Amino acid sequence: MKFELTEEHLMIQQAARDFAQNELLPGVIERDNEQRFPKDQIKMMGEMGFLGMMVDPKYGGSGLDTISYVLAMEEISKVDASASVVMSVNNSLVCWGLEKFGTEEQKQKYLKPLASGEIIGAFCLSEPEAGSDATSQKTTALDKGDHYLLNGTKNWITNGSTASVYLVMAQTDVEAGHKGINCLIVEKDMDGFVVGKKEDKLGIRGSDTHSLMFQDVKVPKENRIGDEGFGFKFAMQVLSGGRVGIASQALGIAAGAYELALKYSKERKTFGKEIGKHQAIAFKLADMATEIEAARLLCLKAAWLKDNKLDFGRASAQAKLFASSVAMKTTVEAVQIHGGYGYVKEYHVERLMRDAKITQIYEGTSEIQKIVISRDILKD
Ligand code: CAA
Repeated sequence: MKFELTEEHLMIQQAARDFAQNELLPGVIERDNEQRFPKDQIKMMGEMGFLGMMVDPKYGGSGLDTISYVLAMEEISKVDASASVVMSVNNSLVCWGLEKFGTEEQKQKYLKPLASGEIIGAFCLSEPEAGSDATSQKTTALDKGDHYLLNGTKNWITNGSTASVYLVMAQTDVEAGHKGINCLIVEKDMDGFVVGKKEDKLGIRGSDTHSLMFQDVKVPKENRIGDEGFGFKFAMQVLSGGRVGIASQALGIAAGAYELALKYSKERKTFGKEIGKHQAIAFKLADMATEIEAARLLCLKAAWLKDNKLDFGRASAQAKLFASSVAMKTTVEAVQIHGGYGYVKEYHVERLMRDAKITQIYEGTSEIQKIVISRDILKD
Protein backbone atom coordinates (compact mmCIF):
# COMPACT_ATOMS: atom_id res chain seq x y z
CA MET A 1 0.00 0.00 0.00
CA LYS A 2 1.44 3.37 -1.03
CA PHE A 3 0.27 6.60 0.57
CA GLU A 4 1.91 8.72 -2.13
CA LEU A 5 0.48 10.96 -4.77
CA THR A 6 1.96 10.84 -8.28
CA GLU A 7 3.66 13.80 -9.92
CA GLU A 8 0.51 14.32 -11.97
CA HIS A 9 -1.68 14.33 -8.87
CA LEU A 10 0.56 16.90 -7.20
CA MET A 11 0.43 19.11 -10.30
CA ILE A 12 -3.37 19.00 -10.41
CA GLN A 13 -3.57 19.73 -6.69
CA GLN A 14 -1.25 22.72 -7.10
CA ALA A 15 -3.14 24.01 -10.15
CA ALA A 16 -6.43 23.85 -8.22
CA ARG A 17 -4.84 25.52 -5.18
CA ASP A 18 -3.42 28.36 -7.29
CA PHE A 19 -6.70 28.84 -9.10
CA ALA A 20 -8.63 28.97 -5.82
CA GLN A 21 -6.26 31.51 -4.30
CA ASN A 22 -5.92 33.72 -7.38
CA GLU A 23 -9.37 33.57 -8.93
CA LEU A 24 -11.87 32.46 -6.30
CA LEU A 25 -10.66 34.10 -3.12
CA PRO A 26 -10.97 37.70 -4.39
CA GLY A 27 -14.70 38.45 -4.30
CA VAL A 28 -15.83 35.31 -2.48
CA ILE A 29 -17.28 37.33 0.43
CA GLU A 30 -19.14 39.68 -1.92
CA ARG A 31 -20.54 36.81 -3.98
CA ASP A 32 -21.77 35.17 -0.77
CA ASN A 33 -23.38 38.44 0.41
CA GLU A 34 -25.04 39.12 -2.92
CA GLN A 35 -25.88 35.47 -3.71
CA ARG A 36 -24.01 35.96 -6.96
CA PHE A 37 -23.05 32.97 -9.10
CA PRO A 38 -19.30 32.77 -9.87
CA LYS A 39 -19.95 32.93 -13.63
CA ASP A 40 -16.52 34.03 -14.85
CA GLN A 41 -14.73 31.65 -12.49
CA ILE A 42 -16.86 28.69 -13.60
CA LYS A 43 -16.02 29.53 -17.21
CA MET A 44 -12.32 29.48 -16.29
CA MET A 45 -12.77 26.19 -14.46
CA GLY A 46 -14.21 24.74 -17.66
CA GLU A 47 -11.23 25.99 -19.65
CA MET A 48 -8.87 24.42 -17.11
CA GLY A 49 -10.62 21.06 -17.44
CA PHE A 50 -12.14 21.04 -13.95
CA LEU A 51 -15.72 20.51 -15.09
CA GLY A 52 -15.24 17.19 -16.89
CA MET A 53 -12.23 15.87 -15.04
CA MET A 54 -12.89 12.15 -15.38
CA VAL A 55 -14.44 12.20 -18.87
CA ASP A 56 -12.57 10.63 -21.78
CA PRO A 57 -10.83 13.36 -23.85
CA LYS A 58 -12.70 12.10 -26.93
CA TYR A 59 -15.83 13.52 -25.26
CA GLY A 60 -14.21 16.78 -24.24
CA GLY A 61 -13.01 15.74 -20.78
CA SER A 62 -9.63 15.73 -19.05
CA GLY A 63 -9.32 11.92 -18.81
CA LEU A 64 -8.11 12.02 -15.21
CA ASP A 65 -8.84 9.66 -12.33
CA THR A 66 -11.14 10.15 -9.35
CA ILE A 67 -8.15 10.72 -7.04
CA SER A 68 -7.33 13.85 -9.08
CA TYR A 69 -10.94 14.92 -8.75
CA VAL A 70 -10.86 14.56 -4.95
CA LEU A 71 -7.65 16.60 -4.76
CA ALA A 72 -9.03 19.38 -6.94
CA MET A 73 -12.38 19.41 -5.13
CA GLU A 74 -10.61 19.77 -1.78
CA GLU A 75 -8.56 22.74 -2.94
CA ILE A 76 -11.46 24.58 -4.59
CA SER A 77 -13.72 23.92 -1.58
CA LYS A 78 -11.18 25.32 0.87
CA VAL A 79 -11.90 28.71 -0.64
CA ASP A 80 -15.29 28.66 -2.36
CA ALA A 81 -17.79 25.86 -1.76
CA SER A 82 -20.29 27.63 -4.02
CA ALA A 83 -17.94 27.07 -6.97
CA SER A 84 -17.12 23.51 -5.91
CA VAL A 85 -20.75 22.40 -5.78
CA VAL A 86 -21.13 23.43 -9.43
CA MET A 87 -17.99 21.43 -10.18
CA SER A 88 -19.21 18.42 -8.22
CA VAL A 89 -22.66 18.28 -9.79
CA ASN A 90 -21.34 18.75 -13.31
CA ASN A 91 -18.57 16.16 -12.94
CA SER A 92 -20.23 13.48 -10.86
CA LEU A 93 -23.97 13.67 -11.36
CA VAL A 94 -24.15 14.85 -14.94
CA CYS A 95 -20.98 13.97 -16.90
CA TRP A 96 -20.23 10.67 -15.18
CA GLY A 97 -23.82 9.47 -15.58
CA LEU A 98 -23.92 10.42 -19.25
CA GLU A 99 -20.56 8.84 -20.02
CA LYS A 100 -21.37 5.60 -18.22
CA PHE A 101 -24.97 5.12 -19.31
CA GLY A 102 -25.63 7.45 -22.26
CA THR A 103 -25.87 6.49 -25.95
CA GLU A 104 -23.16 7.56 -28.39
CA GLU A 105 -25.54 10.21 -29.79
CA GLN A 106 -26.25 11.57 -26.28
CA LYS A 107 -22.53 11.73 -25.56
CA GLN A 108 -21.80 13.59 -28.80
CA LYS A 109 -24.66 16.02 -28.33
CA TYR A 110 -24.62 16.65 -24.56
CA LEU A 111 -21.54 15.20 -22.89
CA LYS A 112 -19.03 16.99 -25.12
CA PRO A 113 -20.14 20.56 -24.30
CA LEU A 114 -20.77 19.63 -20.65
CA ALA A 115 -17.36 18.03 -20.09
CA SER A 116 -15.52 20.87 -21.78
CA GLY A 117 -17.38 23.39 -19.62
CA GLU A 118 -19.01 25.11 -22.60
CA ILE A 119 -22.31 24.54 -20.79
CA ILE A 120 -23.18 23.19 -17.34
CA GLY A 121 -25.72 20.61 -16.27
CA ALA A 122 -28.12 19.90 -13.43
CA PHE A 123 -29.42 16.72 -11.79
CA CYS A 124 -33.11 16.78 -10.93
CA LEU A 125 -34.32 14.15 -8.48
CA SER A 126 -35.67 15.98 -5.41
CA GLU A 127 -39.26 17.14 -5.29
CA PRO A 128 -41.39 19.01 -2.74
CA GLU A 129 -42.49 15.61 -1.36
CA ALA A 130 -39.61 13.39 -2.44
CA GLY A 131 -36.24 14.25 -0.93
CA SER A 132 -34.80 11.36 1.07
CA ASP A 133 -37.64 9.11 -0.07
CA ALA A 134 -36.57 9.32 -3.69
CA THR A 135 -38.83 6.56 -5.02
CA SER A 136 -41.90 8.73 -4.28
CA GLN A 137 -41.52 10.80 -7.44
CA LYS A 138 -44.65 12.73 -8.45
CA THR A 139 -43.25 14.15 -11.68
CA THR A 140 -44.66 12.13 -14.57
CA ALA A 141 -43.27 11.31 -18.00
CA LEU A 142 -46.14 9.77 -19.93
CA ASP A 143 -45.22 7.61 -22.91
CA LYS A 144 -46.66 9.24 -26.05
CA GLY A 145 -45.01 7.09 -28.69
CA ASP A 146 -42.08 9.07 -30.04
CA HIS A 147 -41.83 11.30 -26.95
CA TYR A 148 -42.55 11.57 -23.23
CA LEU A 149 -44.89 14.23 -21.87
CA LEU A 150 -43.22 15.61 -18.78
CA ASN A 151 -45.19 17.28 -15.96
CA GLY A 152 -44.21 18.14 -12.40
CA THR A 153 -42.01 20.16 -10.08
CA LYS A 154 -38.44 19.66 -8.91
CA ASN A 155 -36.98 21.35 -5.83
CA TRP A 156 -33.57 22.53 -4.59
CA ILE A 157 -31.89 22.06 -7.95
CA THR A 158 -28.24 23.10 -8.00
CA ASN A 159 -27.38 25.05 -11.19
CA GLY A 160 -31.15 25.53 -11.58
CA SER A 161 -31.04 28.65 -13.73
CA THR A 162 -27.47 28.48 -15.00
CA ALA A 163 -27.60 24.97 -16.48
CA SER A 164 -28.42 24.31 -20.11
CA VAL A 165 -29.04 20.56 -19.79
CA TYR A 166 -31.05 18.84 -17.03
CA LEU A 167 -31.19 15.14 -16.13
CA VAL A 168 -34.75 14.75 -14.87
CA MET A 169 -36.13 11.71 -13.04
CA ALA A 170 -39.84 11.10 -13.62
CA GLN A 171 -42.45 8.35 -13.28
CA THR A 172 -43.66 6.76 -16.49
CA ASP A 173 -45.40 3.80 -14.89
CA VAL A 174 -46.72 4.85 -11.48
CA GLU A 175 -47.84 1.28 -10.63
CA ALA A 176 -44.30 -0.03 -11.12
CA GLY A 177 -42.81 2.08 -8.29
CA HIS A 178 -39.09 2.67 -8.67
CA LYS A 179 -39.05 0.39 -11.74
CA GLY A 180 -41.34 2.87 -13.51
CA ILE A 181 -38.94 5.82 -13.22
CA ASN A 182 -37.02 7.14 -16.24
CA CYS A 183 -34.21 9.67 -16.50
CA LEU A 184 -34.77 12.14 -19.33
CA ILE A 185 -32.37 14.71 -20.76
CA VAL A 186 -34.22 18.03 -20.87
CA GLU A 187 -32.91 21.11 -22.65
CA LYS A 188 -33.51 24.50 -21.14
CA ASP A 189 -35.28 25.92 -24.18
CA MET A 190 -37.83 23.08 -24.50
CA ASP A 191 -41.38 24.47 -24.48
CA GLY A 192 -43.10 24.21 -21.10
CA PHE A 193 -39.93 24.19 -19.04
CA VAL A 194 -39.92 27.00 -16.46
CA VAL A 195 -37.21 27.92 -13.96
CA GLY A 196 -38.96 28.78 -10.70
CA LYS A 197 -38.03 30.52 -7.46
CA LYS A 198 -34.42 30.97 -6.41
CA GLU A 199 -33.72 29.75 -2.87
CA ASP A 200 -32.28 32.20 -0.31
CA LYS A 201 -29.89 29.85 1.45
CA LEU A 202 -27.89 29.68 4.71
CA GLY A 203 -24.72 28.67 2.88
CA ILE A 204 -23.23 28.06 -0.56
CA ARG A 205 -25.00 31.30 -1.38
CA GLY A 206 -23.04 31.90 -4.57
CA SER A 207 -24.49 28.73 -6.05
CA ASP A 208 -27.72 28.82 -7.90
CA THR A 209 -30.52 26.71 -6.36
CA HIS A 210 -34.00 26.77 -7.86
CA SER A 211 -37.27 24.97 -8.16
CA LEU A 212 -38.13 23.87 -11.70
CA MET A 213 -41.50 23.38 -13.32
CA PHE A 214 -42.34 21.13 -16.26
CA GLN A 215 -45.65 21.79 -17.96
CA ASP A 216 -46.38 19.41 -20.86
CA VAL A 217 -42.74 19.36 -21.94
CA LYS A 218 -42.28 17.05 -24.94
CA VAL A 219 -39.04 15.13 -24.46
CA PRO A 220 -37.98 12.94 -27.42
CA LYS A 221 -37.64 9.22 -26.67
CA GLU A 222 -33.97 9.31 -27.68
CA ASN A 223 -33.37 11.54 -24.63
CA ARG A 224 -34.07 8.73 -22.18
CA ILE A 225 -30.95 7.43 -20.45
CA GLY A 226 -30.74 3.63 -20.39
CA ASP A 227 -33.61 1.18 -20.78
CA GLU A 228 -37.20 1.92 -19.88
CA GLY A 229 -37.50 2.02 -16.06
CA PHE A 230 -33.77 2.41 -15.43
CA GLY A 231 -34.08 5.95 -14.03
CA PHE A 232 -34.05 5.14 -10.32
CA LYS A 233 -31.05 2.82 -10.54
CA PHE A 234 -29.35 5.43 -12.70
CA ALA A 235 -29.94 8.05 -10.00
CA MET A 236 -28.70 5.76 -7.21
CA GLN A 237 -25.50 4.83 -9.03
CA VAL A 238 -24.79 8.40 -10.03
CA LEU A 239 -25.36 9.54 -6.44
CA SER A 240 -22.87 6.93 -5.17
CA GLY A 241 -20.24 8.67 -7.31
CA GLY A 242 -21.59 12.08 -6.40
CA ARG A 243 -21.03 11.37 -2.72
CA VAL A 244 -17.28 11.13 -3.38
CA GLY A 245 -17.49 14.70 -4.72
CA ILE A 246 -19.52 16.04 -1.79
CA ALA A 247 -17.31 14.22 0.72
CA SER A 248 -14.34 15.99 -0.90
CA GLN A 249 -16.19 19.27 -0.72
CA ALA A 250 -16.78 18.72 3.01
CA LEU A 251 -13.12 17.79 3.41
CA GLY A 252 -12.09 21.01 1.67
CA ILE A 253 -14.40 23.15 3.81
CA ALA A 254 -12.92 21.56 6.94
CA ALA A 255 -9.34 21.90 5.71
CA GLY A 256 -9.91 25.52 4.69
CA ALA A 257 -11.25 26.41 8.14
CA TYR A 258 -8.44 24.51 9.84
CA GLU A 259 -5.74 26.30 7.82
CA LEU A 260 -7.23 29.68 8.73
CA ALA A 261 -7.48 28.68 12.40
CA LEU A 262 -3.89 27.42 12.43
CA LYS A 263 -2.59 30.64 10.88
CA TYR A 264 -4.58 32.75 13.34
CA SER A 265 -3.34 30.62 16.26
CA LYS A 266 0.23 31.50 15.37
CA GLU A 267 -0.48 35.23 14.99
CA ARG A 268 -2.88 36.11 17.76
CA LYS A 269 -1.41 36.59 21.23
CA THR A 270 -3.20 36.44 24.58
CA PHE A 271 -1.80 36.29 28.09
CA GLY A 272 1.71 36.90 26.74
CA LYS A 273 1.91 34.17 24.10
CA GLU A 274 0.48 32.97 20.78
CA ILE A 275 -2.92 31.41 21.36
CA GLY A 276 -1.73 28.17 19.69
CA LYS A 277 0.65 27.76 22.61
CA HIS A 278 -2.28 27.55 25.03
CA GLN A 279 -3.24 23.92 25.39
CA ALA A 280 -6.95 24.74 25.02
CA ILE A 281 -6.28 25.83 21.43
CA ALA A 282 -3.45 23.38 20.69
CA PHE A 283 -5.70 20.42 21.51
CA LYS A 284 -8.43 21.75 19.25
CA LEU A 285 -5.91 21.99 16.41
CA ALA A 286 -4.69 18.45 17.08
CA ASP A 287 -8.25 17.10 16.88
CA MET A 288 -9.00 19.07 13.74
CA ALA A 289 -5.83 17.90 11.96
CA THR A 290 -6.45 14.26 12.91
CA GLU A 291 -10.09 14.22 11.85
CA ILE A 292 -9.34 15.99 8.57
CA GLU A 293 -6.65 13.44 7.76
CA ALA A 294 -9.09 10.59 8.47
CA ALA A 295 -11.72 12.24 6.24
CA ARG A 296 -9.14 12.67 3.48
CA LEU A 297 -8.20 9.00 3.62
CA LEU A 298 -11.86 7.96 3.37
CA CYS A 299 -12.33 10.21 0.32
CA LEU A 300 -9.22 8.86 -1.37
CA LYS A 301 -10.17 5.26 -0.58
CA ALA A 302 -13.62 5.71 -2.16
CA ALA A 303 -11.98 7.33 -5.20
CA TRP A 304 -9.44 4.51 -5.46
CA LEU A 305 -12.20 1.87 -5.35
CA LYS A 306 -14.09 3.71 -8.08
CA ASP A 307 -11.00 4.07 -10.25
CA ASN A 308 -10.31 0.36 -9.86
CA LYS A 309 -13.88 -0.53 -10.86
CA LEU A 310 -14.60 -2.01 -7.42
CA ASP A 311 -17.81 -1.52 -5.44
CA PHE A 312 -17.58 1.96 -3.91
CA GLY A 313 -21.18 2.55 -2.70
CA ARG A 314 -20.48 1.93 0.98
CA ALA A 315 -17.11 3.71 0.86
CA SER A 316 -18.56 6.84 -0.74
CA ALA A 317 -21.39 6.95 1.84
CA GLN A 318 -18.86 6.51 4.66
CA ALA A 319 -16.63 9.25 3.25
CA LYS A 320 -19.58 11.63 2.97
CA LEU A 321 -20.99 10.78 6.40
CA PHE A 322 -17.66 11.29 8.14
CA ALA A 323 -16.27 14.20 6.14
CA SER A 324 -19.49 16.21 6.44
CA SER A 325 -19.51 15.73 10.21
CA VAL A 326 -15.83 16.77 10.35
CA ALA A 327 -16.66 19.83 8.24
CA MET A 328 -19.39 20.89 10.67
CA LYS A 329 -17.30 20.28 13.78
CA THR A 330 -14.10 21.83 12.41
CA THR A 331 -15.76 24.99 11.14
CA VAL A 332 -17.52 25.57 14.48
CA GLU A 333 -14.16 25.17 16.26
CA ALA A 334 -12.44 27.46 13.75
CA VAL A 335 -14.98 30.19 14.55
CA GLN A 336 -14.38 29.59 18.27
CA ILE A 337 -10.60 29.86 17.89
CA HIS A 338 -11.04 33.17 16.06
CA GLY A 339 -13.22 34.51 18.89
CA GLY A 340 -15.03 37.71 17.94
CA TYR A 341 -13.16 37.87 14.63
CA GLY A 342 -14.58 34.50 13.70
CA TYR A 343 -18.10 35.90 13.85
CA VAL A 344 -17.50 38.53 11.18
CA LYS A 345 -17.41 37.92 7.45
CA GLU A 346 -13.94 39.27 6.78
CA TYR A 347 -12.26 36.27 8.40
CA HIS A 348 -14.02 33.68 6.17
CA VAL A 349 -14.62 31.05 8.86
CA GLU A 350 -18.24 32.02 9.53
CA ARG A 351 -18.97 31.46 5.81
CA LEU A 352 -17.25 28.07 5.88
CA MET A 353 -19.35 27.17 8.94
CA ARG A 354 -22.55 28.08 7.07
CA ASP A 355 -21.36 26.24 3.95
CA ALA A 356 -20.51 23.09 5.93
CA LYS A 357 -24.12 22.36 6.92
CA ILE A 358 -25.34 21.52 3.42
CA THR A 359 -22.81 18.70 3.12
CA GLN A 360 -24.84 16.85 5.77
CA ILE A 361 -28.00 17.34 3.74
CA TYR A 362 -27.58 17.18 -0.04
CA GLU A 363 -26.87 14.03 -2.07
CA GLY A 364 -28.48 12.21 0.82
CA THR A 365 -28.64 13.35 4.44
CA SER A 366 -26.30 11.79 7.02
CA GLU A 367 -29.19 9.50 7.96
CA ILE A 368 -29.44 8.30 4.34
CA GLN A 369 -25.70 7.54 4.33
CA LYS A 370 -26.26 5.41 7.44
CA ILE A 371 -29.03 3.52 5.62
CA VAL A 372 -26.71 2.85 2.67
CA ILE A 373 -23.81 1.79 4.93
CA SER A 374 -25.85 -0.39 7.29
CA ARG A 375 -27.68 -2.15 4.46
CA ASP A 376 -24.32 -3.01 2.92
CA ILE A 377 -22.92 -4.25 6.24
CA LEU A 378 -26.01 -6.36 6.95
CA LYS A 379 -26.54 -7.81 3.46
CA ASP A 380 -26.24 -11.61 3.12
N1 CAA B 1 -26.84 1.17 -7.31
C1 CAA B 1 -27.68 0.41 -8.04
N2 CAA B 1 -28.92 0.07 -7.65
C2 CAA B 1 -29.32 0.56 -6.49
C3 CAA B 1 -28.53 1.36 -5.65
C4 CAA B 1 -27.22 1.66 -6.12
N3 CAA B 1 -26.38 2.42 -5.41
N4 CAA B 1 -29.23 1.69 -4.54
C5 CAA B 1 -30.43 1.12 -4.67
N5 CAA B 1 -30.49 0.43 -5.84
C6 CAA B 1 -31.60 -0.38 -6.36
C7 CAA B 1 -31.96 -1.51 -5.41
O1 CAA B 1 -31.17 -2.65 -5.65
C8 CAA B 1 -33.41 -1.75 -5.75
O2 CAA B 1 -33.50 -2.49 -6.93
P1 CAA B 1 -34.36 -3.88 -7.01
O3 CAA B 1 -35.76 -3.55 -6.55
O4 CAA B 1 -34.29 -4.29 -8.44
O5 CAA B 1 -33.69 -4.84 -6.08
C9 CAA B 1 -33.91 -0.34 -6.09
O6 CAA B 1 -32.78 0.43 -6.44
C10 CAA B 1 -34.65 0.32 -4.97
O7 CAA B 1 -33.75 0.37 -3.88
P2 CAA B 1 -34.23 0.43 -2.38
O8 CAA B 1 -35.29 -0.61 -2.15
O9 CAA B 1 -33.00 0.37 -1.54
O10 CAA B 1 -34.89 1.87 -2.30
P3 CAA B 1 -35.40 2.70 -1.09
O11 CAA B 1 -36.69 3.32 -1.45
O12 CAA B 1 -35.34 1.88 0.16
O13 CAA B 1 -34.36 3.93 -1.01
C11 CAA B 1 -32.38 5.13 -0.50
C12 CAA B 1 -33.01 3.78 -0.93
C13 CAA B 1 -30.92 4.79 -0.29
C14 CAA B 1 -32.98 5.65 0.79
C15 CAA B 1 -32.57 6.15 -1.65
O14 CAA B 1 -33.89 6.55 -1.79
C16 CAA B 1 -31.70 7.39 -1.49
O15 CAA B 1 -30.50 7.35 -1.75
N6 CAA B 1 -32.32 8.55 -1.08
C17 CAA B 1 -31.61 9.81 -1.02
C18 CAA B 1 -31.77 10.54 -2.30
C19 CAA B 1 -30.73 11.60 -2.47
O16 CAA B 1 -29.54 11.39 -2.22
N7 CAA B 1 -31.15 12.75 -2.98
C20 CAA B 1 -30.22 13.78 -3.28
C21 CAA B 1 -30.73 14.65 -4.36
S1 CAA B 1 -29.56 15.11 -5.55
C22 CAA B 1 -28.69 16.40 -4.91
O17 CAA B 1 -28.72 16.72 -3.75
C23 CAA B 1 -27.81 17.04 -5.90
C24 CAA B 1 -27.42 18.44 -5.62
O18 CAA B 1 -28.12 19.36 -5.93
C25 CAA B 1 -26.08 18.70 -5.05
